[in-house]
Amino acid sequence: MALAGLFLVVFLVVHLGINLLLLADDGGQSFSAAAEFMATNPVIRVSEVVLFGGFLLHMIFGVLVSFRNRTSRPIRYQHKSQTRTAPLSKYMLHSGIIVFIFLVLHFIDYYFIKLGLVAPPAGIERHDFYHRSLVLFSDNGYSAVYLIGFLFLGFHLNHAIQAAFQTMGLNHSKYTGAVKVAGTAYAVVVAGGFMVIPLWFMLFR
Ligand code: HEM
Repeated sequence: MALAGLFLVVFLVVHLGINLLLLADDGGQSFSAAAEFMATNPVIRVSEVVLFGGFLLHMIFGVLVSFRNRTSRPIRYQHKSQTRTAPLSKYMLHSGIIVFIFLVLHFIDYYFIKLGLVAPPAGIERHDFYHRSLVLFSDNGYSAVYLIGFLFLGFHLNHAIQAAFQTMGLNHSKYTGAVKVAGTAYAVVVAGGFMVIPLWFMLFR
């Protein structure tokens, strides 16, 4: 689960980098060129299969681990836990489910259109992700839904990095603080970076 998660961590940085090109004032040229490269490069195509495998494994193990944690103590503690665990780290399943719902929506918006499973909006070509994004983010309500999705993605990522290091046995007490800071920095940069996109459309378009 940790390895699959870390693969997703790398994917998100690449995906964010390309999506930020949407903000370039060039009529979508650089964004479309990057999207075209991603869609045609054979190495990327293969990693897409690994990506979906990673997503699937990560979700299946996530649900299994949460289920096992609950069933291993069928009778709940009488007192609330007094551990210093950050409140949001206790809600990984919940934030994960919200990210999953965001992803289903996101696939309907883009990926399923590309695969031909969903019809594109009138006047937009199936592979034209630039104009698809302009239409999508011109709706403030829809941009708000994306913003909420990114917020929960940030909560999920914040704890995920620390948990992954722990799972892989790479948590030495010497580095715990550094891993925590790096995990939070990553979560803020990635979630904040994605948030810039709908916010920019809301404020400047
Ligand atoms: C404003 C933010 C975002 C924009 C504009 C955006 C845009 C896109 C576009 C254009 C595609 C289709 C690319 C293609 O198939 O060639 C895509 C696919 C995808 N997106 Fe996003 N995305 C955003 C945020 C996210 C986030 C936060 C996640 C993960 C939590 C995500 C996960 C995916 C996945 C898994 C795919 C399918 C795999 C792929 O095509 O590479 N996206 N996105």
